[in-house]
Amino acid sequence: MAFAFPVWLAVQEELLGNGDSDSGSVSCFDEFDDEALFRMFHLNRPCIAFILDATRIRMKTAALKKSTLSLDEMVMVTLNYYAHGASSTSILQRVGQTQSDCLAIISIISGVIAGMSDQFISFPLAHDAKCKVAFKTEKLCGIPNVLGVLAAAHFRIRASPYEDTFRSFVNSWGYTSVVSQIICDSDGNVLSVEKCCLGRTFEQELWESSFKGREMEEEIHGPYWVIGGKGYNLSKHVLTPLSEPANDSETRFNEAHTKIHDVMQTTLCCMKKRFRCLMQLGFAQESSLNKKSNIIKACSVLHNIAKKFSVPPLSVAGKIEPLHQGKARSEPEINPEALKARQELIKAKFLNVSSSRIPQSERITENV
Ligand SMILES: *[C@@H]1O[C@H](CO)[C@@H](O)[C@H](O)[C@H]1NC(C)=O
Ligand SMILES: *[C@@H]1O[C@H](CO)[C@@H](O)[C@H](O)[C@H]1NC(C)=O
Ligand SMILES: *[C@@H]1O[C@H](CO)[C@@H](O)[C@H](O)[C@H]1NC(C)=O
Repeated sequence: MAFAFPVWLAVQEELLGNGDSDSGSVSCFDEFDDEALFRMFHLNRPCIAFILDATRIRMKTAALKKSTLSLDEMVMVTLNYYAHGASSTSILQRVGQTQSDCLAIISIISGVIAGMSDQFISFPLAHDAKCKVAFKTEKLCGIPNVLGVLAAAHFRIRASPYEDTFRSFVNSWGYTSVVSQIICDSDGNVLSVEKCCLGRTFEQELWESSFKGREMEEEIHGPYWVIGGKGYNLSKHVLTPLSEPANDSETRFNEAHTKIHDVMQTTLCCMKKRFRCLMQLGFAQESSLNKKSNIIKACSVLHNIAKKFSVPPLSVAGKIEPLHQGKARSEPEINPEALKARQELIKAKFLNVSSSRIPQSERITENV
């Protein structure tokens, strides 16, 4: 992210206003001990207090007046749903609401937290910030001028096979999903999340129609790459692996590419473990994609905040959907200019074993 932690906190503090009479007051979260808190919400106390404050200043008073619950109760219901993909019985009893009442609450709070993405999900814009992100990435994998890792993240949904739109939710792997475009940095912070499309949408299509895709391809972000899987077209700004590496240099490049690309897989795994709701977003219709989009964005915001507060990752057993990559594009379609740029990069950085070998101590940096 653009800011170092202390700076980032200071910014938030200023934003929240120091004299806010509400912050630090008693909340329904105080009823949980630390262990129960983590079990119910997969977050720790300082992190939840921060989320509560940030939500409080964003929440329109009008929406609160309509609700029978207080803001902290609404946030509690929502965070509990995110963590488990359903509301816990004890939470339902505590707030005296049914599972379906809660859906309305979750929808309101998800909208508010998703709206915080302008603060907590920041693509590096300033020159310094870009250099910093690129430097860290190069240190990890040896590839220079990379701003992030790009992927089309699929989230399972339920769809009725009797609906006309059913087929459009079925993705290339045969299950129903919605798909969002996510970019993360080499530390697994989410730098951008946009779109929420029908599962059958291809990643290249997402990229070309996304704001970030257009900005990058129009050179607004300068001569930088994002790392893309083999489902993307190689372009001057999307760096894909070689489908058939012909020699050691190319093999070394592909290994470096895999190493940085794996960060996305780790990041999505981490998000889906902390926020189990992302494993199954419930029923969807084409007309209700906004709500799904808000939940995906909100969880991305909370993921970044949880990282800032160093909340431990969840060690949940069970399978997490691997990050599927689309089918490889056939090489002849590739833009010759982009091909040349990739070849030059390989020549400059992966020609000699010594120049691409990263010291062992720096290799194990990703904490799962
Ligand atoms: C590796 O193969 C590519 C493609 O055939 C070629 O352009 C490049 O010069 C080769 N590099 C080395 C070190 O042989
Ligand atoms: C990118 O991929 C699409 C879909 O496969 C293809 O039609 C198009 O020609 C490709 N674009 C470039 C610039 O190679
Ligand atoms: C690679 O090694 C050769 C021979 O040892 C050397 O001449 C060349 O400058 C090196 N290239 C890079 C990019 O380090």
